[in-house]
Amino acid sequence: MKRILISTAACAASLLSTSAMAAATEAKPLSTQTQTNLEAAMHGEAYANLKYLRYADQAEAAGKPELARLFRESANIEANEHFDREAQALQLGGANSANLEDAMAGEHYENVTMYINFASQAEADGDTRVAAMFRQIAIDEGTHYDSYKAALAKLSPR
Ligand SMILES: [Fe+2]
Ligand SMILES: [Fe+2]
Repeated sequence: MKRILISTAACAASLLSTSAMAAATEAKPLSTQTQTNLEAAMHGEAYANLKYLRYADQAEAAGKPELARLFRESANIEANEHFDREAQALQLGGANSANLEDAMAGEHYENVTMYINFASQAEADGDTRVAAMFRQIAIDEGTHYDSYKAALAKLSPR
């Protein structure tokens, strides 16, 4: 265990120096394709994080604590190293008002377009339970949108 911790620390140190070097040499804005790839990579890392945490719970429930630990360790790297480094490279986020507007755009899309279309498709295919779930989640996203909108109004009274 100790050996693993030491190698992780050494690895993190080398990653730090690598990213510092990259930051020093990459003053130009990222290409559109690089930004697109970072977005795609971040979606994958975020998905892997939550998927591995679920796998860890299943391993735990099946009486396999070592396997659960393996999944949790990987999940942690996906989120707190890979996603985090990619988010920094993309310079994800910024001012609270811009973050709220970005969040609102995502929630609005999910609320009025994505989940509604998914529900319609599932209904057409006879997947009625999933369709009902999509419609419920669509409503949640509308609530998130409203909360962000209210927070934005409080943040910058117009
Ligand atoms: Fe990863
Ligand atoms: Fe949401």
